[in-house]
Amino acid sequence: MDASSRNNERDGITGALLFDTLWFIQILEGERETISSTLRRIMTDQRHDMVTVMEARPVRERLFGNWWMGLAILRGDNSALFERHGIGSRLDPRQMTGEQAVGLARDLAGTGLNRRAIATAA
Ligand SMILES: Cc1cc2nc3c(=O)[nH]c(=O)nc-3n(C[C@H](O)[C@H](O)[C@H](O)COP(=O)(O)O)c2cc1C
Repeated sequence: MDASSRNNERDGITGALLFDTLWFIQILEGERETISSTLRRIMTDQRHDMVTVMEARPVRERLFGNWWMGLAILRGDNSALFERHGIGSRLDPRQMTGEQAVGLARDLAGTGLNRRAIATAA
């Protein structure tokens, strides 16, 4: 998280990182070239595998403008939260659309965004 926040602040990349027990879902916003080079670094990072792009699209404005990399660790029962976003019982990107991932991250980020916040959904 420290390296990510530092690099992303330097590169003008904002976004959110969601995690439960197995999968990370990450949203990255920024210039196309810097997003691409960050993605290349992430993809060659040996700490994870099966890195897949769920969706890539141009946006008019940033949705996570104050977060260099906000982290939400999902613990416990999140069925109500997931149900609101039409997601099954687990955070599984293989079963989700990019839009659902963004909606969920926005929900977790809430309104009081910090430059770097840790949100824990109970
Ligand atoms: C789940 C996950 C998400 C990551 N997200 C980012 C990110 O958003 N930005 C970033 O620079 N590095 C991210 N990293 C770290 C990169 O894989 C890599 O370790 C790092 O960019 C190397 O930076 P350094 O050369 O400054 O040490 C992430 C790693 C993991 C495991």
